[in-house]
Amino acid sequence: MNILVVNGPNLNFLGIREKGIYGTQDFAYLLSLLEEKAKTCQITIDTFQSNCEGEIIDRLQQAYMDKVDGIVINPGAYTHYSYAIRDALASLTCPIIEVHISNVHKREEFRHVSVTAPVCSGQIVGLGLQGYMLAIDAIINMKKQEN
Ligand code: DQA
Repeated sequence: MNILVVNGPNLNFLGIREKGIYGTQDFAYLLSLLEEKAKTCQITIDTFQSNCEGEIIDRLQQAYMDKVDGIVINPGAYTHYSYAIRDALASLTCPIIEVHISNVHKREEFRHVSVTAPVCSGQIVGLGLQGYMLAIDAIINMKKQEN
């Protein structure tokens, strides 16, 4: 099983940006958790981070070509307004879980709207980095149910 984890803008700044909201663990720590998770679950997890909308779209299109089994995506602020990323996600047929580290519903009103969530299978919000692990478990379970 091959799962792609995509992180959007500013997520590479984990551990630096707004620590009261996103925590003190840095992006390298998140990558190490994902590496560990891949080993434990005996699956392949590829990761991609970009601060550029077009690069995220190119990577999602590549994932379609590669026939990945599932996608975990934290589109960062693009969540709230990128119809282009929404359209790219809508092209995909595999399970997609949207993750937000913070509880966006407790925050500014513009963060309450996700233009990408309606084309995802599900959304995990406000559970910190653990949200990524739960999203991977969810995809594994969804794939098992398909078989
Ligand atoms: C975020 C929430 C977004 O509103 C914000 O722009 C981010 C991170 C989160 O993981 O909580 O960059 O997606």
